[in-house]
Amino acid sequence: MPEAPLQVRPASDDDRLPLAVLFAAVAEERDGIATEPPVDVEARAVSWTLDGTLVAVAGSEIVGSLHLDASRHGFGELGMAVARDWRGRGVGSALIAAAIEWARERGLHKLSLGVFAHNAAAIALYRKFGFVQEGRRVKHYRRASGELWDSIEMGLLL
Ligand SMILES: CC(C)(COP(=O)(O)OP(=O)(O)OC[C@H]1O[C@@H](n2cnc3c(N)ncnc32)[C@H](O)[C@@H]1OP(=O)(O)O)[C@@H](O)C(=O)NCCC(=O)NCCS
Repeated sequence: MPEAPLQVRPASDDDRLPLAVLFAAVAEERDGIATEPPVDVEARAVSWTLDGTLVAVAGSEIVGSLHLDASRHGFGELGMAVARDWRGRGVGSALIAAAIEWARERGLHKLSLGVFAHNAAAIALYRKFGFVQEGRRVKHYRRASGELWDSIEMGLLL
């Protein structure tokens, strides 16, 4: 369990820079999220869509974030990241639980996402909350290395 109490709340303006810094750090891993370096942190901070963003905060540190893009067709598309040192301690679960609640409150009927096929931790997290595989996009993402990665499409009916 986390040492500091974990809080999940909607993002506010002051969160822009730490959100962008976290995003850039996860992009540096070149593993879990589609974006690869370089990330222009300042530009990301300014352009971050706060509406639909939830942050996980431990003490005063942002240790994870989730963005839910609510479509006008009733589904919400999500993306998320947890700081490396904080993984495996329930932060991702707290964010997904809050996102499900957030989506239900707004009357969405479904959550959906795409995840790289090798991303066992993320797939396990989504399955834990009832997401099921709906399809596979073969060699969909071209990486900076030249590799072509498959993406798994997952969905959760609310
Ligand atoms: C995917 C990610 C968000 C998961 O966040 P997390 O805080 O580590 O998740 P949790 O600690 O809540 O773990 C959730 C469940 O996933 C599973 N899990 C966690 N880490 C795992 C791992 N390394 N391998 C397999 N399963 C794992 C466990 O079943 C766990 O549930 P349990 O502890 O109740 O059994 C995090 O690893 C991450 O940010 N990775 C990099 C960015 C990324 O991949 N984002 C998702 C893009 S689709």
